[in-house]
Amino acid sequence: MTIEGKSYRTVWFEDNRLCLINQPLLPHRFEIVRIGDYREAALAIRNMVVRGAPAIGATAAYAMALAVLRGEDPEEAYRVIGGARPTAQDLFYGIGRIREALAGGRDALEEADRIADEYVASSERIGEYGSSLIRDGMRINTHCNAGWLATVDWGTALAPVYKAVRQNRKVFVYADETRPRCQGSRLTAYELLQENVPHAVIADNAAGFYMSRGMIDMVIVGSDRIAANGDIANKIGTYTSALAARANGIPFYVAAPFATVDRDCPTGGDIPIEERSGEEVSHMFGISEKTGEADRVRVAPEGSECLNPAFDVTPADLITGIITERGIFSPGEIGRQLT
Ligand code: MRU
Repeated sequence: MTIEGKSYRTVWFEDNRLCLINQPLLPHRFEIVRIGDYREAALAIRNMVVRGAPAIGATAAYAMALAVLRGEDPEEAYRVIGGARPTAQDLFYGIGRIREALAGGRDALEEADRIADEYVASSERIGEYGSSLIRDGMRINTHCNAGWLATVDWGTALAPVYKAVRQNRKVFVYADETRPRCQGSRLTAYELLQENVPHAVIADNAAGFYMSRGMIDMVIVGSDRIAANGDIANKIGTYTSALAARANGIPFYVAAPFATVDRDCPTGGDIPIEERSGEEVSHMFGISEKTGEADRVRVAPEGSECLNPAFDVTPADLITGIITERGIFSPGEIGRQLT
């Protein structure tokens, strides 16, 4: 991806440091965080300095490599990093690959670099397969951020959009705001602006309205974990969006690499769903128009309980197809691809 003319990945390793784009500061400030300790890396995942399943997977792999480089116990690092967030399968994929590499006597950092490169390649393939679904003039709805900031480069749900735009097709994106952390209005909108893709940010509850008016042709979302039966977990609100798409006869696609598929998880009901602090619902964070400084404001009244499940499960029967680096599959075919 290119930010103000310079090419970046979302996650990379340089001068013995793990480097991340500090996502909570976007879209207002672009800043790079440099991390030399795996515990700090685990905290960056937990606090969503880096987020999005493949970006978390690559970060987790580099965090393991940091532990090895510093001569620390990789099993303890595996436990600490593995406890950072529970839903994104890629986190466990990333740390699992490094554990296997170490068991096979291979170099942890080289393996982490390989994982990051594979993520870039799989995202680009997802973009190529997914763009074949996009006709000129299509209006696409997406939820959360599933672009390059959520991966190492290109994206999952947004990669097909970026590929279609590079192939000179006109695409308009309706980006759901994605309460409570607003990954849509903060990150997807930022990416689409950088890529010159025409778009509008809409409140999450406006998507059904635009679908019912015939103004959305297709929905594409990413995923944090895909169960063997094709059920998928993704950012809270995805399920509601899939229901609205089904009610309006709109195709609903999920884009994800095979690293997100959990062969040990039979159904969506078995996917652990992260519960985050209610403060992410009761408060909002942004830039004050008065001072130009970052500020947090309370929205819900003091005394109201706020609940904050971070993901929901969309059942396979609401999903038209899953766009992967190996092709586009029906949800039912995903499990068979693993054998
Ligand atoms: O809580 P987040 O921001 O990490 O959630 C991210 C999502 O839900 C994305 O849609 C998902 O990781 C797939 S995108 C590559």
